[in-house]
Amino acid sequence: MLQRPRRNRKSEVIRQMVQETHVSAANLIFPLFIVEGDNQKTEVSSMPGIFRYSIDNLLREVESCLNLGLKSFDLFPNIDEALKDKYATESHRDESLYLRAIRAVKKEFPEACVITDVAMDPYSSDGHDGIVENGEILNDETLEVLGKMALAHARSGADIIAPSDMMDGRVGYIRNVLDENGFTGVSIMSYSAKYASAFYGPFRDALNSAPKFGDKKTYQMNPANQREALIEARLDEAEGADFLMVKPGLPYLDVIKLLKDSTELPIAAYNVSGEYAMIKAAIRNGWLNEQRAITEVLTSFRRAGASAILTYHAKEVLENKWL
Ligand code: PBG
Repeated sequence: MLQRPRRNRKSEVIRQMVQETHVSAANLIFPLFIVEGDNQKTEVSSMPGIFRYSIDNLLREVESCLNLGLKSFDLFPNIDEALKDKYATESHRDESLYLRAIRAVKKEFPEACVITDVAMDPYSSDGHDGIVENGEILNDETLEVLGKMALAHARSGADIIAPSDMMDGRVGYIRNVLDENGFTGVSIMSYSAKYASAFYGPFRDALNSAPKFGDKKTYQMNPANQREALIEARLDEAEGADFLMVKPGLPYLDVIKLLKDSTELPIAAYNVSGEYAMIKAAIRNGWLNEQRAITEVLTSFRRAGASAILTYHAKEVLENKWL
């Protein structure tokens, strides 16, 4: 045998020398849930170790992440049911919880990279990502709401706007609104290939944002489709996206790889709530080794081609020095 691949695995030094992919703090984006009130920190029951923070505690959490070298945050609001309506007007009200949170983080920590979620569902009395009429999700009417939301985020100091709604044409629409208002420097990280997945359950618990009727299959993609992701990616790129995201992550590594090979834009992967819950449940049962399972998952996203990884594991891997 001339080729013995095991020679390159014979010691830790050589294994590290030939290691093809690495994960570092710079690749990680930490999703954070926000709730109204003072000194609130309540755990999401289906996501052990993940909390909803009031703005005062959010600032403490961001500070402790920054000290660990974790500098990018994606914020998601838990909105009081009484503030929700058909048009998600709370999403662009100047004194809303979400806009106050963005301003507070950017004021205290200008160096933090704040990514904001653009979608109606946390603010919608229907629990959908678009305006509902006669049981249907209206596309073009929803774009107007998304535009107002994105502009409010930009005005509050967002570094990157991340539309997660899956309406057609929203990247171009938002890009236009931002540019017309002088926010040419605000980036767009588009949820390009976002699937109608069973793995968002714990997130919807965290925000109390589950759809009040039906499902999201007329706008989120069919999990059985790969090539359709190319259509979404091509459109988002043409409309001005700076990053293309694939979501969920682990069951869709093929889609990450496909997009990586078909665009020069950086790819982001969302290691979603259900993936986190699944890993944590197995660890709690003593069925998986925590450090090894989590670092293997994150490494797999990098290997598939993701530059950025949105993950609820972001803080713990740095706290425990697992990277
Ligand atoms: C909604 C949104 C969802 C997630 C991020 N933005 C849920 C959904 O589409 O219903 C899920 C994230 C996760 O599960 O971690 N616009």
